[in-house]
Amino acid sequence: MMMAIEVRDLTKRYKGNGFAAVDHISFNVESGEIFALLGPNGAGKTTAIKILTTLLKPTSGTAKVAGFDVGKDKDSVRKSIGIVFQEPSLDWRLTGRENLDFHARIYGIGRKEREKRIEEVLKLVELEDKADVAVDKYSGGMKRRLELARGFIHNPKVLFLDEPTLGLDTHTRRRIWDYIRELNDSEGATIVLTTHHMEEADYLCDRVGIMDQGKIIALDTPTNLKDLIGSDVVSLEMNTTYNVEVFKKLDFVTEFRKHDNFVTLKMERGDLRIPAIMEVAKLAGIEIKSVNLRKPSLEDVFLHFTGRRIRE
Ligand SMILES: Nc1ncnc2c1ncn2[C@@H]1O[C@H](COP(=O)(O)OP(=O)(O)O)[C@@H](O)[C@H]1O
Ligand SMILES: [Mg+2]
Repeated sequence: MMMAIEVRDLTKRYKGNGFAAVDHISFNVESGEIFALLGPNGAGKTTAIKILTTLLKPTSGTAKVAGFDVGKDKDSVRKSIGIVFQEPSLDWRLTGRENLDFHARIYGIGRKEREKRIEEVLKLVELEDKADVAVDKYSGGMKRRLELARGFIHNPKVLFLDEPTLGLDTHTRRRIWDYIRELNDSEGATIVLTTHHMEEADYLCDRVGIMDQGKIIALDTPTNLKDLIGSDVVSLEMNTTYNVEVFKKLDFVTEFRKHDNFVTLKMERGDLRIPAIMEVAKLAGIEIKSVNLRKPSLEDVFLHFTGRRIRE
């Protein structure tokens, strides 16, 4: 498998800080993957991205992007990547199309190819209708979409997105997720993003590196990470004077607890088991008032490793 990114023992100490902002991290990203660094504010995500995009020199360690060393072969790295930063960097006086055109010129893309690419990326983020409107008339979501389009216009092998949905509302955030997936699907580019939003990492990414205090504390697919925490939890609300032992006897139940007006059951794939549980309740004449299925989230994974929540 071709590696889009290879990071070995990467460390960054800012002058004056007594700690490493990035502390001996190592990971690979395969070509075509969507990969996230997930962690709270100050975890070191932006610092890591700045090193990978050649904007910051590491204190020690090595990183290769698209096969090129970020220290020894800066120009080749820069030609291979697209970047969308946390802070918007569009020219607001220009139209969407002009912003894209300006950027494509910087990359030395010829006129014909430029015009074709601009149409393609505008279509991808559904901004064709607004292409000739000045960016200062755009909503926050539209600006973000234009930045995605711009980051992608020169067909980079690897696209870096630093907190791509920061400050956007839930609806706009979901649309951005879909565009990111679409970019990945249709153009096959590797995407590396940072986020402190666990659902974003979960929904979007093939693999997630969870970062805290400069270190990667866990790295795997979202599913495998959540499986570390264990099974689904199904809580049934009922009058527990019923004989609730029937639930304990179900062969897929790995843990049984009775408390207050609830019976709590642990099991794999609770989503598939709820019908059988309801059937057993019915046969035993037990009236269930409510059912709640809780899946472990990446927040639970972070909590498991650090004893803290991501959002604090
Ligand atoms: N230019 C800088 N000089 C000194 N310290 C910095 C600088 N940039 C970031 N830091 C510190 O490095 C740590 C990691 O920051 P950052 O990489 O921005 O984390 P994140 O993107 O995960 O929020 C933080 O403690 C931050 O205060
Ligand atoms: Mg950051």
